[in-house]
Amino acid sequence: MDTKILQPTKENIAVCADEIKSGGIVGFPTETVYGLGASALDERAIAKIFECKGRPSDNPLIVHIGAVGQIYELASDVTPLGEKLANHFMPGALTLVFNKKPHIPSVVTGGLNTVALRMPSNQIAIDFINACGVPLAAPSANLSTTPSPTCAEHVYGDLKGRLNYIIDGGACRIGLESTVVDVRGDVPIILRAGGVSKEEIEAVSGSVKLANSFIKGDEKPLSPGMKYKHYSPKANVIVCENDGNAVKKVTDQCEEQTKGGKKCVVMCVAEFAAQLSGEYNVKCSSDLAEYAKNLYADLRACDDEGYDCIIAVLCGNSEIGLAINNRLLKASGGKKL
Ligand code: TXA
Ligand code: MG
Repeated sequence: MDTKILQPTKENIAVCADEIKSGGIVGFPTETVYGLGASALDERAIAKIFECKGRPSDNPLIVHIGAVGQIYELASDVTPLGEKLANHFMPGALTLVFNKKPHIPSVVTGGLNTVALRMPSNQIAIDFINACGVPLAAPSANLSTTPSPTCAEHVYGDLKGRLNYIIDGGACRIGLESTVVDVRGDVPIILRAGGVSKEEIEAVSGSVKLANSFIKGDEKPLSPGMKYKHYSPKANVIVCENDGNAVKKVTDQCEEQTKGGKKCVVMCVAEFAAQLSGEYNVKCSSDLAEYAKNLYADLRACDDEGYDCIIAVLCGNSEIGLAINNRLLKASGGKKL
């Protein structure tokens, strides 16, 4: 299969929509990360997604919609809370978990009786979904376990030869996945931190619960995907809390790694980098929004640049920091200084 990267012209979107209608899979941009889409109503097409990514079959897929009203076609028992959050945050980086309608194949939901729904805000994504005329089941368009793709080239690097088309929408605006929220009850439960923050949801719903699975790696995660190895580059990732001792811990670790013959890089925000005196390799972002946006691309770049070890400095858990820390902890497999 000769994988083509296509510009998002009307004609090319129509070509990709035909690919979906005939049971194929297509890589497409969203404001969070690139998705690997197939018709959510076509079991054989869904099987191609799992095969293409090497994804465990009990990890359910998010179903992407082109208009808020489509929630009522796919979810049953839409709660007032779900309605409120949908009206406030869709289109956007929020995924809502509802009870599912029976016509959604269970391969999409990993056998669960719930379905996760998201309407992206990226206009190319919306145009593509609407051209397909069906909801699109789409995980992130990376090989299972690697960092999620935030540009078309990442998708190509991971999946070339496994699909016909990737729509090129440039770099993703947010760079981290959507926030997954269970809205079946009265209080939203965040199953995965992401592009819409806990604080933003709280401002609309009054209160919010955090499923501790996503930050602590619980035994029985509510969002099945959170139990798998994730977001990992080839390099060894070690995280460090940004506390009073962080500069010393990070520089000591760099020296130890370098003595052991390892090529080491520090990933952090500019404020932290400014405290490092001496010669260190640094992947540095100006603020938290940029840290989020660059995170996956930087993890991939570290591999391309031959680093053996990435020391990533965590941030505060407020706003987008919660999602950044979650991804870094996952990428590190829990290795902490
Ligand atoms: O931003 C995003 O959400 C991106 C773009 C492409 O939309 N998609 C994405 O999909 O990150 P994926 O498959 O990489 O992650 C989906 C997450 C997984 O943790 C999965 O377990 C969870 O959503 N999920 C899906 N359906 C669920 C359900 N019914 N109940 C609980 N969690 C669910
Ligand atoms: Mg993913």
